Amino acid sequence: MVIAVDGPAGAGKSTVCRRLAKALGAVYLDTGAMYRAVAWALDKRGMADAPDERIRSELAALPLEFRMEGEGLAVYWQGKPLGDEIRTPSVSRTASLVSQRRPVRDFLTRLQRDLARGRDVVVEGRDMTTVVFPDAELKVFLTASDRVRAERRWAEYRQKGLSADLEEILRQIQERDAADSQRSLAPLRPGEGAIIVDTSDLSIDQVVEQLARLAFEAR
Ligand code: C5P
Repeated sequence: MVIAVDGPAGAGKSTVCRRLAKALGAVYLDTGAMYRAVAWALDKRGMADAPDERIRSELAALPLEFRMEGEGLAVYWQGKPLGDEIRTPSVSRTASLVSQRRPVRDFLTRLQRDLARGRDVVVEGRDMTTVVFPDAELKVFLTASDRVRAERRWAEYRQKGLSADLEEILRQIQERDAADSQRSLAPLRPGEGAIIVDTSDLSIDQVVEQLARLAFEAR
């Protein structure tokens, strides 16, 4: 069974999907981490804005590996796990740019379908309900007001001991949403038949409960 979840930055997708997968005995596939890892790797090679053909051949050669392990996705660079280095605001920006490129989308779409094959999986991203898994048993679009999403990101940064300015985060989130929604390839929008859930006034528990109920109904 595939449960596909899309939504803008800070809508609560990662936390909710990780918990939902656990509750359902499924695995969790964070496709944003795949775009982040590719952005980080291309940037490291000085190739983030190379022409499509160069990117296409570079992607085939990068020592980047994606595997499903335990509860979800693990990413390796030269055989070593990649972690928080792909979670910086600068990688967020590069990911948003690199994700507009055809070779990157083709490469990751194929990989995402391969990783999900034969598994019960909760997949999360920007084009899960539209492009990658349009036939998923359950499709959900998670959203929340801009300010609530910025406040959640701000709290996350603070928790990690990083200094953060709320208004700056809000601006970055709005900028990234605009880029993700207005791009020509796989723009962020709810897929056909996706259930729209506004999480602004809901707790994580409430959202997980609601999605778990929908998943049981869709089985
Ligand atoms: O979800 P996360 O914020 O980690 O994603 C980082 C960026 O990767 C997004 O802003 C978006 O540009 C891109 N992305 C995408 N398609 C996906 C997942 C992420 O284009 N399925």
